[in-house]
Amino acid sequence: MYTPADSRYDNMRYNRCGKSGLLLPAISLGLWHNFGGVDDFDHYRKTLHVAFDSGITHFDLANNYGPPPGSAEENFGKILKQDFGGHLRDELIISTKAGYRMWPGPYGEWGSRKYLISSLDQSLQRMGISYVDIFYSHRPDPATPMEETMMALDYAVRSGKALYAGISSYDAAQTNQAVAIMKSLGTPLVIHQPRYNMFDRWVENGLLDVLEKDGLGCIPFSPLAQGLLTNRYLQGIPEGSRAALPHGFLKSADITESRLLQVSRLNEIAKMRGQSLAQLALAWLLEDERITSVLVGASSATQLLDSLKSLGNLSFSREELAGIEAILRG
Ligand SMILES: NC(=O)c1ccc[n+]([C@@H]2O[C@H](COP(=O)([O-])OP(=O)(O)OC[C@H]3O[C@@H](n4cnc5c(N)ncnc54)[C@H](OP(=O)(O)O)[C@@H]3O)[C@@H](O)[C@H]2O)c1
Repeated sequence: MYTPADSRYDNMRYNRCGKSGLLLPAISLGLWHNFGGVDDFDHYRKTLHVAFDSGITHFDLANNYGPPPGSAEENFGKILKQDFGGHLRDELIISTKAGYRMWPGPYGEWGSRKYLISSLDQSLQRMGISYVDIFYSHRPDPATPMEETMMALDYAVRSGKALYAGISSYDAAQTNQAVAIMKSLGTPLVIHQPRYNMFDRWVENGLLDVLEKDGLGCIPFSPLAQGLLTNRYLQGIPEGSRAALPHGFLKSADITESRLLQVSRLNEIAKMRGQSLAQLALAWLLEDERITSVLVGASSATQLLDSLKSLGNLSFSREELAGIEAILRG
């Protein structure tokens, strides 16, 4: 039996999501890895409890999270029912997405109305809830008219199956177009979910400016570069780490010597700041006011608690920023 901590709102910061009414915790938890059918139920259930007890109100899912695909939503639904039932639903921001392959045939991926609405219905059923707080188009579809994808998001909100609409991995030009369509439909997009971390900075070339201009929030995914921007790989590839798992999206080939050199140099700066490397990497993102929340993953409650401590020091001196920049560009 889980009883949420009374102190759960004491230490979290809640940031406004763009110009919307929605507030999100500075750190949100994603269920892409570590919450699937292959993972240990009691272990990740504990992570969810610790998250909520620490003020993390936002949990991010997608139709295909697992493995197997769909199992993260099913497992989350079970825990919702057991531990977060009744009135706690109103304290949670649950998001899901559709865009990647989920079922066979021509209607099981991308951005058609047929796929998006069917997928949202399936997600609601798997989680055992009547609405999600945010429904995303998971990726732009080069073959479907953008109007159709946006009309599906608009319908999701108008039908009450979702409260807000978002997009993920759309570039600056695609975001401009999506924003204009949704405005004309009367359901403004409130959030964009791009990959953004110290090692992957594509959003700095225009996307962040578009989001600021159009009043959308930004929630970077993989802010720790899937674990590379932590102490995880400083001494090789540990058993059970994402890079060691057969279904992990981080490949051992991504852990190159030059990357590890950057990681250990960044770790020195983190130490000087009295932070872990994960804390440094998250603080570096959150220092930018355009970032609403960072969407972390965690394979244990201990990792999550470590990441949460980043909120204790989010400001950087000019010298620290220059030192980080030199390492990243070196
Ligand atoms: N929209 C999209 O297309 C998209 C794509 C990818 C992800 N996402 C979302 O973003 C979320 C986060 O992505 P991600 O899991 O790649 O994020 P991440 O935070 O970059 O990486 C998480 C991994 O880093 C390690 N880690 C986390 N905290 C740590 C700490 N304090 N100390 C040491 N190691 C730590 C763990 O690795 P180990 O497992 O090795 O312990 C953990 O599984 C996903 O769950 C999903 O919700 C969205």
